[in-house]
Amino acid sequence: MSRFFSTVCCALFVVSMTSVDAEAAYDAAAGQKTYDTTCAACHKGGLLGAPKLGDKAAWAPRIAQGLDVLVSKSIKGFQGKTGTMPARGGDAKLTDAQVGNSVAYLVGQSK
Ligand code: HEC
Repeated sequence: MSRFFSTVCCALFVVSMTSVDAEAAYDAAAGQKTYDTTCAACHKGGLLGAPKLGDKAAWAPRIAQGLDVLVSKSIKGFQGKTGTMPARGGDAKLTDAQVGNSVAYLVGQSK
């Protein structure tokens, strides 16, 4: 039993370390530019059911999924309860890093 417990603790520790690293891997300041040119079209005014930048209540349950999940959903696009988030915000030229940085910016401004 105690062995099981320490395994669980160890796993949780690794998971929490990983998410800290993930946060550091994105550059929110660089993401602002991509946000302004691509994401703001929907996320500034809440167009088509998009959660607005700075709307803490709308973002809290989304942020709880973790940054990596938000980034991968933003790269692939998804259909949610309030609308459809297009893959890469509809701009296929954006790199994974650019999308990741703009998600970090959006999230950083909304919690
Ligand atoms: C055409 C409109 C549109 C554009 C442009 C757009 N989004 Fe979205 N986005 C949405 C909608 C609508 C949702 C909500 C979908 C839902 O949960 O029903 C959403 C949700 C999200 C979420 C929350 C994901 C989740 O799991 O709750 C993130 C993160 C996100 N968008 C990031 C971005 C980024 C980054 C960009 C720019 C690269 C972008 N979006 C551009 C419409 C858009």
